[in-house]
Amino acid sequence: MESERVQVINGDITRLDVDAIVNAANSSLLGGGGVDGAIHRAAGPDLLAECKRLNGCQTGQAKITEGYRLPAKKVIHTVGPVWYGGEKGEPALLAACYRNTIQLLLDNGLREIAFPAISCGVYGYPAEQAVAIAVSEVEQALEQHPQLKVIFCCFGEEMESLYRARLQ
Ligand code: AR6
Repeated sequence: MESERVQVINGDITRLDVDAIVNAANSSLLGGGGVDGAIHRAAGPDLLAECKRLNGCQTGQAKITEGYRLPAKKVIHTVGPVWYGGEKGEPALLAACYRNTIQLLLDNGLREIAFPAISCGVYGYPAEQAVAIAVSEVEQALEQHPQLKVIFCCFGEEMESLYRARLQ
């Protein structure tokens, strides 16, 4: 259920003033298209400079940086799986993105996080299946961590309705 602790919005994640926004990055962490491109454009060149020092990130893992010119304090970069049909460990890797990202948020003493639909753009993960994983991982984390607050930031109404339906 949507509540004070889990919300769905339709909009640009780079505009959100939260403790951390999540970047759906690639393993180089050196930028790209989609939400990654938007975050780097909005944060400015200091973000890329910090990312260059991180030595990349493996699929399913997460790394944290400052938010620079973003309203968000931090960016947590995670690398979602590319969809190869579902038999290459994609569901477990996508679940790991959500889990590891939330763990990193909490390890940094933060509580409020906004997620884009990781892997649902260029990486081709079927949206409904990805949303089921995202919601299930987030609901488990909300139960375990009473301080946690999550926003699912969708880019488009279609994705927004999938999240709303899943949260009911
Ligand atoms: N705010 C919120 N969501 C957004 C925004 C935005 N400003 N822009 C796009 N989305 P994608 P992926 C949505 O392709 O599939 C990059 O090149 C978008 O509609 O950004 O994980 C990276 O460098 C979709 O629902 O990420 C990687 O190489 C979702 O964000 C690769 O793409 C994710 O789409 C990662 O692919």
